Amino acid sequence: MGYTVRQLRGAVADAVRAPSLHNTQPWRFRLRDGGIEVTVDPRRALPATDPTGWGARVACGAALFNLRLALAVAGTPATVRLRPYPTDPDVVARLEPDVPRRPTPTEQSLHGAIARRFSNRAPFWPDPVPAEARWRLGEAARAEQCWLELVIGASAVNALAEVARSAHRVLERDPAYVAERVDWMRSEPAPDGVPAAAGGPQSEPQDLLPQRGFGGRHRAPGRDFEPEPLVAVLGTPGNTGTDQVVAGQALQRVLLTATDAGLGASLLSQPIEVPAAREALRLSLGRFGTPQMVMRIGYGQPGRATPRRPVDEVLDLPVVPA
Ligand SMILES: Cc1cc2nc3c(=O)[nH]c(=O)nc-3n(C[C@H](O)[C@H](O)[C@H](O)COP(=O)(O)O)c2cc1C
Repeated sequence: MGYTVRQLRGAVADAVRAPSLHNTQPWRFRLRDGGIEVTVDPRRALPATDPTGWGARVACGAALFNLRLALAVAGTPATVRLRPYPTDPDVVARLEPDVPRRPTPTEQSLHGAIARRFSNRAPFWPDPVPAEARWRLGEAARAEQCWLELVIGASAVNALAEVARSAHRVLERDPAYVAERVDWMRSEPAPDGVPAAAGGPQSEPQDLLPQRGFGGRHRAPGRDFEPEPLVAVLGTPGNTGTDQVVAGQALQRVLLTATDAGLGASLLSQPIEVPAAREALRLSLGRFGTPQMVMRIGYGQPGRATPRRPVDEVLDLPVVPA
């Protein structure tokens, strides 16, 4: 027995809550021969910001992780094949029904965090992230075959921040990149793009980490953004398209684990998007493999989930003859 359209719809409602670059939601979902397939949507590409498709594959991997959780919590867990068709690499995964079983407590709590997770770009409180939560974040990455390096100590954080700021400057000098960012900023309600209210405060020159500008409000000049965020880098052993899908799944597992622990997080991908910065980051960490995402994590103010397109807009269903 394969998955049904009803199961597909239910699981996709959770899948689309995943993060994506500029909230482009670059994914599509379909039923084929009883399996659910997740594909990259080339119409939602960002040619200047994401010329290689790395960001789209990470976003689809994050959506895939939500899909896996939703199916598991519904009692119909999936076996997953990543990039199952060598001739069609846009198909990032195919899920087929596994033996039905009860969901684990971890699956239940991570699934419960899907609707509460959002990118929290506002300053975090000074309270440190406890050791137990740090350990859980690392475990979340390891459970999905990735590593999570917590950047500890002022000099290590400063070195990473310097790489991130220089990558940010390189990107902001490219008019096509800036045009894409502005294109996806939303000042009116919309089903995609980044709402100004979610953009976080505007950057100030003295800020440690470069926040992408999404039209957020100004803050009092001269004030520090936050004293000491926890900065983490997620990485994979290799950097093939499949590794990037794996990274997306691990990213979502880390973010949901953080949400479940009452923590906020936001993503900083400028140092991943500029090849020289990514290499500098890799060397500074001394880790085997490739950095796939930088994030800041901490206790934040409450916020709201951003909009998504309706499920029916991202489904490819076979046309049923009238
Ligand atoms: C691959 C990738 C890269 C991202 N890079 C950044 C970034 O550099 N800065 C940022 O503020 N948000 C970044 N984001 C977060 C998205 O902007 C965010 O997920 C999207 O706007 C949807 O909002 P939500 O996370 O609140 O659901 C990134 C997300 C993904 C998947």
